[in-house]
Amino acid sequence: MKYVAAIAALMLAACGAAPVAGPAAEAEGASVSPAAAQAPARSTLTGEKPIIIAHRGASGLFPEHTIPGYEAAIAQGADFIEPDLVMTKDGVLIARHDAYLSDTTNVADHPEFANRKVKRATPMGEKEDWWADDFTLAEIKMLKARQQFPMRTKEHDGKLDILTFDEVMDVALAAAKEGRIVGLHIEAKWPEYYSSVGLDMVDPIIEGIKAKGLEEAGIPVFIQSFEPPFLAAFAEKSDLPTIQNMVGPPYNKMLGLEYNLDEMTTTGVGAEKTYILNADGTTTDFVERAHANGLLVHVYTVRDDVVLPGYENAQAELTALIKAGVDGIWVDYPDTAVAVRDGN
Ligand code: G3P
Ligand code: CA
Repeated sequence: MKYVAAIAALMLAACGAAPVAGPAAEAEGASVSPAAAQAPARSTLTGEKPIIIAHRGASGLFPEHTIPGYEAAIAQGADFIEPDLVMTKDGVLIARHDAYLSDTTNVADHPEFANRKVKRATPMGEKEDWWADDFTLAEIKMLKARQQFPMRTKEHDGKLDILTFDEVMDVALAAAKEGRIVGLHIEAKWPEYYSSVGLDMVDPIIEGIKAKGLEEAGIPVFIQSFEPPFLAAFAEKSDLPTIQNMVGPPYNKMLGLEYNLDEMTTTGVGAEKTYILNADGTTTDFVERAHANGLLVHVYTVRDDVVLPGYENAQAELTALIKAGVDGIWVDYPDTAVAVRDGN
């Protein structure tokens, strides 16, 4: 259960929701480029402009993984929308970031599910919550989404459905029918855990994509995970490009996770942004080294309302990342990122 540790780290860290102190140079053996802030802009791996990935949809504006959140991201110019996937008791892929439900749904308001709140052991300790794989899809559909960030609007809470993977793909397909191609950046969450309880994620994702005809519709797809064994298993069965997500500092070291860019076999990496951004406004040589290994660098997560120490605002983070040559950026506010990327 080695990679389940990463799950717990992300539960704890809320995936970079809070600024993480400490120099990026400590991460992954990176060395600092002292004059990086003044250095000339580096190119992306392909020379194309970096893609803007709507992190769980336009999740700054709507509860994450909801139809209006994804549609807003598309309207704002995102190149990709990102469904995180977990599984229900009856083996259906649903768009949720967490294995548990309390942070982003109104499950706590459902008395009929009160007795489903149970303790589970995690590598970071015991957690008492409602767990997606204790619910059938029909039960999940009784819930509504909620915004988990306290500083963001709650006006949509309790109104929006929890989506299946199929329903997220339908959003992209509907856009494609209108001539607007938006890609899907799909993350399998906790595949090792689901596999341990008999719920495989590899085949349902592959079969779901095929059944929906994403390739025929011209919809680009990335498959991402924090768990290398899942990505390796996926690559055995599919040629879709894969992204190895990397737990950011300090949690990578706390968990004993080692990432060696020289040995990665994926199409690219999904790096927490402090692998690249230093607290003094300089950048590391991470992108340069990843590119030297032929790896795309996608970076998470830039938020208008949570900014790293040393950066005035999200625009400053975006500018530094783009200047460093990253190939893609997960963002909670796609309009901000598209404007910076396109020089508007
Ligand atoms: O998947 C990478 C990016 O989405 C950030 O991670 O934990 O928010 O899914 P997370
Ligand atoms: Ca994700």
